[in-house]
Amino acid sequence: MKRMLSGIKPSGQLTLGNYIGALREFVKYQNDYEMIVFIANLHTLTVYQDPKELSQNLKDTIALYLACGLDPNRSTIFMQSDVMEHAQLGFILSCNTYMGELNRMTQYKDKLAKGEESMTSGFYVYPTLMASDILIYDPDFVPVGEDQKQHVELTRDVAMRFNNRYGETFKIPQPLIPKIGARIMSLSDPTKKMSKSDEQDKGCIYLLDKPEVARKKVMSAITDLVGKVQYDPINQPGIANLLVIHSALSGRSIENLVKEFEGQGYGTFKKAVADEVVKLLIDLQAKYNDILNQHILDKVLAQGAVKARVLAHQKLKLVETKIGLTID
Ligand code: AMP
Ligand code: TRP
Repeated sequence: MKRMLSGIKPSGQLTLGNYIGALREFVKYQNDYEMIVFIANLHTLTVYQDPKELSQNLKDTIALYLACGLDPNRSTIFMQSDVMEHAQLGFILSCNTYMGELNRMTQYKDKLAKGEESMTSGFYVYPTLMASDILIYDPDFVPVGEDQKQHVELTRDVAMRFNNRYGETFKIPQPLIPKIGARIMSLSDPTKKMSKSDEQDKGCIYLLDKPEVARKKVMSAITDLVGKVQYDPINQPGIANLLVIHSALSGRSIENLVKEFEGQGYGTFKKAVADEVVKLLIDLQAKYNDILNQHILDKVLAQGAVKARVLAHQKLKLVETKIGLTID
């Protein structure tokens, strides 16, 4: 069975973008692949996190993983910091990555362009920690949203370089980007990604939003003056985004939705999208509450960490031997 690995950085509440672009995909894949899914809690520290909030976000994230249908008996689910080998290999890989490569990372360039002054060195090197998260488990595929593709490509470059220098050590993983919904856009600015680090809450639907709040956000989504429901991401990015959301949640094709709604007003179409979103949230939140009441999170994470540690430890030992960190 081929292996797949991915993680989500819980620096805030999980969003509809995370669900459509990532979580939902993980759940689908767990039937056909050996899935390793972790919570990238170390990655959140690249920007300051309030400790209490972070801790709550971690708890919500793992509960939502399970609510979405990730099954701890089939998949390995764990917290990144419970497997210390990630950080150890991360340092070794940062010594096999050039600053020139990190300088080319879009997330870093964006912050730099915005004149961000308090960028941490952890933020700068985080793609090397991500490379370690991946390479330590030898996955065949890494399912991620569009924004993470560049980091998986860097991971491949670093792995190839390492293999060339020290001999075959890492499998070269492939990014896997969903065909629909790889980039859900903000409802209040459809030229930007829907993001949990967005200060503008209106544009972002959180999986734990009250259903009526989510409905309002969809109903007030920015559209355009064209007035016709059709898929034109350049001229009608807001409507295109809503079509993608509907399609991802209802499973209907975009063409099919356009056929149904092109003659109707935006209000009717938005209501249909809101209905899909609300249906999802009600279902997820019921499962989320159920899971919290079962008090199983510690056990699930402990069980996942035990499984992950075996693999991570083996790979780290191999790397240490290859690079000469050990004595014979
Ligand atoms: P992050 O929330 O940045 O840790 O992202 C976790 C996963 O969700 C990654 O695979 C992202 O690519 C994906 N993701 C985040 N935001 C979106 C979005 N707006 N649309 C689609 N996928 C997303
Ligand atoms: N950097 C990813 C994000 O911000 C999260 C992440 C960390 C990840 N390590 C990973 C994703 C390894 C896939 C594989 O979304």
